[in-house]
Amino acid sequence: MRPEAAVARPDIAEGEPLVSIRDLRTYYSIRGSFADRLVGREGGVVKAVDGVSLDVRKGEVLGLVGESGSGKTTLGRTILGLVRATSGVVEFEGHDVAHVPEREFRALRRRMQVVFQDPHASLNPAMTIAQAVGHPLQIHGLERNRERLRIKVAEALERVGLAPAAQYMDKYPSDLSGGQKQRAVIARAIILNPVLLVADEPVSMLDMSVRAKILELMAELKRDFDLTYLYVTHDLATAKFFCDRIAIMYLGRIVEIGDAASIYADPKHPYTKALLRAIPEPDPARAVPRDLPRGEVPDAASPPLGCSFHPRCPLAFQPCGWESRDLRDLLEARWARKAGEAGVEEEEALFGNLDALSAPLISARLTPPRGRTAAEMLAVLERIRTEDPDEPFWKGVRRLEAVDGRLELDFHEPHDPTLGQSGDVEVACHLYNAPA
Ligand SMILES: Nc1ncnc2c1ncn2[C@@H]1O[C@H](COP(=O)(O)OP(=O)(O)OP(=O)(O)O)[C@@H](O)[C@H]1O
Ligand code: SF4
Ligand SMILES: [Mg+2]
Repeated sequence: MRPEAAVARPDIAEGEPLVSIRDLRTYYSIRGSFADRLVGREGGVVKAVDGVSLDVRKGEVLGLVGESGSGKTTLGRTILGLVRATSGVVEFEGHDVAHVPEREFRALRRRMQVVFQDPHASLNPAMTIAQAVGHPLQIHGLERNRERLRIKVAEALERVGLAPAAQYMDKYPSDLSGGQKQRAVIARAIILNPVLLVADEPVSMLDMSVRAKILELMAELKRDFDLTYLYVTHDLATAKFFCDRIAIMYLGRIVEIGDAASIYADPKHPYTKALLRAIPEPDPARAVPRDLPRGEVPDAASPPLGCSFHPRCPLAFQPCGWESRDLRDLLEARWARKAGEAGVEEEEALFGNLDALSAPLISARLTPPRGRTAAEMLAVLERIRTEDPDEPFWKGVRRLEAVDGRLELDFHEPHDPTLGQSGDVEVACHLYNAPA
């Protein structure tokens, strides 16, 4: 089956950029919480995609991998034109998708399709499978004859393994299993004969037993239909087998990108290394403790300075972006860890409220409570340093003194790492590309 649709651009050769993204930013405005608004505080922006440049090459499977909240879905949706970019350029087949006239955009849009994570939510419960799969041909005005439409739908269903099609055409989504529903969604995507398929976690909501089969189907379709995939996932284990290249995303940025084989054999970025170590071992006898990066993904509305991975990075050093919030987190984590131990309450009382450390500043100034001294605060910090001298935080501290009754702490100047070539991959990390 080869459904008719817009003619593919023959001039884009295999391996050439099908999608070209340059310095793309997609920010969401967020309203402050109700409490914030009561006190007149404004909402901010979430920098979901924050300066991404990459190509999706014709014929490849590009895996976009990262933890929850890293901006994978937003990047996919921006490429598809479902979310408006704040700045930067997305070109698809050489057309700037934000600036093509509406009519042309519809034609382009036919050629890029999407499969989302939740097949159930992707299908209208009131439409039969035949109606759902045939719908794109109807709304794009590509098939008005009912008989021919049904034949095309049946071909598409059989192509995705829903065979014989007659058994599925008049069923409703609720009659199908999760895997069958996702097959129907894939049939609906390929019926328009796209060149690009954005697959956003297409198997993560399916039973383990059907995941491999759906990925096999996608691999077959890619071959038969000359498709290019942007495959969004947080699962590096499956990405290894499915992807030609991998882009690792963290808080809106690509931190490492390269051939899948190179990334798995020799990961460079500390985040990539941690993600790879965290892949569960299939053989429980050889299972090692999961070693996820420490801490949680920070709030994208107020990302860390410098390298946004620095608060979790075991190798972070001087230029990585140390700031007052890191001191707050260090103290709070210590007190939580040692809760109930002798002397901890006293430390907490000495430092008092840490709100002064909540803004991202490269210096911290703390005033002791009445009757206490900055020298005592300094002594506590020196003790913490002695107890764990390898804690990366201390590499970020440029000056720590008690001056004029205040504790003064200055950090090294923060630098944003940018992607640069290192061996076979590109990586954004000061360990490989020294800051200018
Ligand atoms: N419509 C929206 N309005 C405001 N913020 C949003 C919106 N959609 C996403 N975000 C925020 O943007 C950031 C990136 O979200 P996104 O869904 O793109 O990440 P993701 O990598 O796809 O995550 P997941 O793995 O959980 O699907 C997150 O901080 C998220 O909370
Ligand atoms: S730049 Fe590299 S070393 Fe520094 S925090 Fe980021 S990942 Fe770690
Ligand atoms: Mg997502």
